[in-house]
Amino acid sequence: MAYFQNMKKKTELLKDKKDILILAIESSCDETSVALVRNGREVVSNVISSQIDIHKEYGGVVPEIASRKHVEVINYIVDKALSEANINLNELDAVAVTYGPGLVGALLVGVAMAKGLAFGLKVPLIGVHHIEGHISSNYIHNPDLEPPFLCLVVSGGHTMLVCVEDYCKYRLMGQTLDDAAGEAFDKIARVIGLGYPGGPAIERYAKDGDPTKYDYPRVNIKGKPYDFSFSGLKTAVINHVHNMKQAGEKVNINDIAASFQQAVVDVLVEKSINCANELGIDKLAIAGGVSANSLLKDQMNSLAGQHGIKLYTPSIILSTDNAAMIGSAAYYRLLRGEISDLSLNAIPYLSLSSLN
Ligand code: KG4
Ligand code: ZN
Repeated sequence: MAYFQNMKKKTELLKDKKDILILAIESSCDETSVALVRNGREVVSNVISSQIDIHKEYGGVVPEIASRKHVEVINYIVDKALSEANINLNELDAVAVTYGPGLVGALLVGVAMAKGLAFGLKVPLIGVHHIEGHISSNYIHNPDLEPPFLCLVVSGGHTMLVCVEDYCKYRLMGQTLDDAAGEAFDKIARVIGLGYPGGPAIERYAKDGDPTKYDYPRVNIKGKPYDFSFSGLKTAVINHVHNMKQAGEKVNINDIAASFQQAVVDVLVEKSINCANELGIDKLAIAGGVSANSLLKDQMNSLAGQHGIKLYTPSIILSTDNAAMIGSAAYYRLLRGEISDLSLNAIPYLSLSSLN
């Protein structure tokens, strides 16, 4: 309790400080990442240790293995982020951490580390929502970006259109009713034998395929123009591959990858632009692992341009999970005096509405 009251006072003083340096930790899934971020926009270091090679063998992330690997490397990654930045622990102004949504065991590793550091260093602790982190990745890569803007968040676990009304103020415009876009990429990649993670592999194979070869479904939900559904598309592709195999036909992986990718991208682009137009917003950002996809970026950019909308994208390294985006989100929370106490816990199904 004494810690929290003291940190509240310290946070008030920080608001007048010229430079605020935050150490941020992200461990919600299969990346252990630690970053040092100055004033919410400048990345001083961003170390990412990926477990992808370990999970590849199993065709997807194994939660128990993920937690154990985070435990093994977290101390080392903290040290590496500090030494790459040439920063000392006592120079930190605050410690931030993703506390949800994500895999509970994986999140707990980051949360425990952050609490220990914040308490030991006597600096404020800031719990950050993973999706708020993804949205904030755009602040880093685009120094001129200010709210309000619309953001399409497309990752392995989420697909949603969020209106960023102000810093730390969000309105959910629509979301997937079943699979996330990245999840669909991962599942289709597995079915056509491309392994995990599916998104980058599908993108690679699609380059040599015909996106118009198969007309896979683009789903619109009656009365919910900004909600998404990818399970029908996923089933259509799986059945198609299955039927071809049964009929003894040659399965052209490139054409399937290209046609599937095109169907996902068409839906994401059309709904995002329609939503921005309805809101009268001329700034659109994309975030999350799937935002690394070149077709999505190119097609979104071209349609946005036709509608007088400016597109903002994070760099590839900031698209997938990383701690720099958590440090950026934390900075704007800190400026509002929104810090966490030491009872901060991992919340695997943390909702976006808890953000406002
Ligand atoms: O944001 P992220 O790193 O983790 C989550 O919060 O889920 O997103 C991972 C997802 C995976 O489903 C992966 O297949 C997808 O992002 N992804 C891509 C690409 N790169 C990663 N999907 C399509 N095209 C890509 N280039
Ligand atoms: Zn993510």
